[in-house]
Amino acid sequence: MAEPERPGAERWVPEDAGIPRLRDAVQDCRGCELWAHATQAVFGDGHEKARMMLVGEQPGDREDLAGEPFVGPAGRVLDEALERADIAREEIYVTNAVKHFRFEQRGKRRIHEKPGVVHIDACRAWLEAEMRAVDPRVVVCLGATAARSVLGRTVRVGPERGQPIAHEGRTVVVTTHPSALLRVRDTAERESALVALTADLRVAARESA
Ligand code: URA
Ligand code: SF4
Repeated sequence: MAEPERPGAERWVPEDAGIPRLRDAVQDCRGCELWAHATQAVFGDGHEKARMMLVGEQPGDREDLAGEPFVGPAGRVLDEALERADIAREEIYVTNAVKHFRFEQRGKRRIHEKPGVVHIDACRAWLEAEMRAVDPRVVVCLGATAARSVLGRTVRVGPERGQPIAHEGRTVVVTTHPSALLRVRDTAERESALVALTADLRVAARESA
């Protein structure tokens, strides 16, 4: 009997394509089931030859509607940290490990649901294609999902954050996901989390110079 087909985006990813063609092609991807309930795929955006690439987890509610990464609440935190680190968003490339929004419908609200390892693995071919096309020196992983996709192993952000990791000819820097800051209620605690995120982004900027 034939093996059931393994989920994976490979057959939808055009070979040797630049970002514009990849961005078109991703809308047809059926590499896992997440396409079915999302509004659209959200591909990466930014400088197509950036020295620094930022990888998040997956689009959120706002990104799913807008079709662009990090334009909602987490994006505002990210923009604040980038500004503090003196990094211009138009000089970097920003994307996600998973290109379709995974959520649970509760009444009218769509509640973010973490992508599973199966979705991260299925979607990795798109991220790899983006890395080939953009060819950044430094890849910043915003949170454990991005780190898992990029490094191919389980990463604990706490012990590994802010330390340049040599990986397949590039430098990888792991840091926290900006949305983690949205959950911090205490103002002082939130400020120190933002300071730490900014410091990690500075490490990445230095490595990409
Ligand atoms: N969180 C992410 O990981 N990516 C986005 O694009 C938005 C929120
Ligand atoms: Fe394809 Fe990724 Fe969307 Fe799954 S999440 S359908 S692998 S683009």
